[in-house]
Amino acid sequence: LNMNKNSGQNLSSLLLDWYQENKRDLPWRRSKDPYSIWISEIMLQQTRVETVIPYYTRFLQDYPNVRALAEAGEEEILTSWKGLGYYSRARNLHRAAQMIQEKYQGIIPNAYEDLRLLPGIGDYTAGAVLSIAFNLSFPAVDGNVLRVVSRIAGWEEDIRDAMGREKIGHIVSGLIPPGRAGEFNQALMELGAELCIPKNPLCTDCPIRSCCSAMSTGRQSCIPVKKQAKSPVPLEYWVAVLRRDKSVLMQYRDQTALLGRMWGFPMLIKMLSAEPLNEFTQQIGLELREMRRLGETKHVFTHQVWRMEAIEFIWEETQNELPKGLAWIPFDKMDHIPIPRAFQKIIKLCDIGV
Ligand code: ADE
Repeated sequence: LNMNKNSGQNLSSLLLDWYQENKRDLPWRRSKDPYSIWISEIMLQQTRVETVIPYYTRFLQDYPNVRALAEAGEEEILTSWKGLGYYSRARNLHRAAQMIQEKYQGIIPNAYEDLRLLPGIGDYTAGAVLSIAFNLSFPAVDGNVLRVVSRIAGWEEDIRDAMGREKIGHIVSGLIPPGRAGEFNQALMELGAELCIPKNPLCTDCPIRSCCSAMSTGRQSCIPVKKQAKSPVPLEYWVAVLRRDKSVLMQYRDQTALLGRMWGFPMLIKMLSAEPLNEFTQQIGLELREMRRLGETKHVFTHQVWRMEAIEFIWEETQNELPKGLAWIPFDKMDHIPIPRAFQKIIKLCDIGV
């Protein structure tokens, strides 16, 4: 597993040469601004490069620096984030920006310990910002890098446990050429994204195949070793759709809920509601008369899968005020509030607003 110094140097320079020739022209690679790098690295977590690009560009226009982000409202930031998923990333960015503004006058710190104290910045993000923006010699081990390096090293232990990550981090640290940490970390990521892919890696095109343990033993398809993740819990919901003039009834979700402090629709768990008409009547406080099934849609989260069946209600006004959290949202307002993708699917399914 331990690479000798020569083969390590050889590997690093082969990889860097390949990267110079083959790197994709990505917007965040045109910048050395720590703020821009930070935003890009947060967006790129769990999210594909092609998805991130338009969000990144717009986000930097709307919030060009720490101060602008710190001073913006949370709802506005969540609206910009709409559709990217994992919304705690946006909330953490906001809080971290406020802390950087207060504690460091808006200047992103370049010390590992300072970065790690900020919300949403873990080992990976701290390493990525320090290496890419400040060229400091820190590893940045994301999923791509875990895969690439475990193959190179022939590491056949589970990479999900902390030990595995630490081991891979040490190997990367030992390979970073002096003064080129940012390029080197991105070269590893790039190799993982373009050639050293999870299934059927393109080993014949790989610049470092001669240094790869998995290649030499033919074990590319067995490495990395991952213990099976728990499969997500399936949940089935009724989703209520009520329309009035050019608006639809929506619900501001409780802050403790999944997708909390964003807008969705009134929902009931199917298993727990034998009579959706009565139970939605209770929940919504309007006189619901008839229901019509509009169809089903599915949304996959890390730990849950929602199957949502939309039902439209015919209803009558009552004297009652709408319960707290419910509001009629005009169709032309829907673009300006945070509505996560799970509920965008309902909007599309039911042709709400068209
Ligand atoms: N994934 C995470 N960080 C990245 C970066 N800087 N470039 C490309 N893909 C990435």
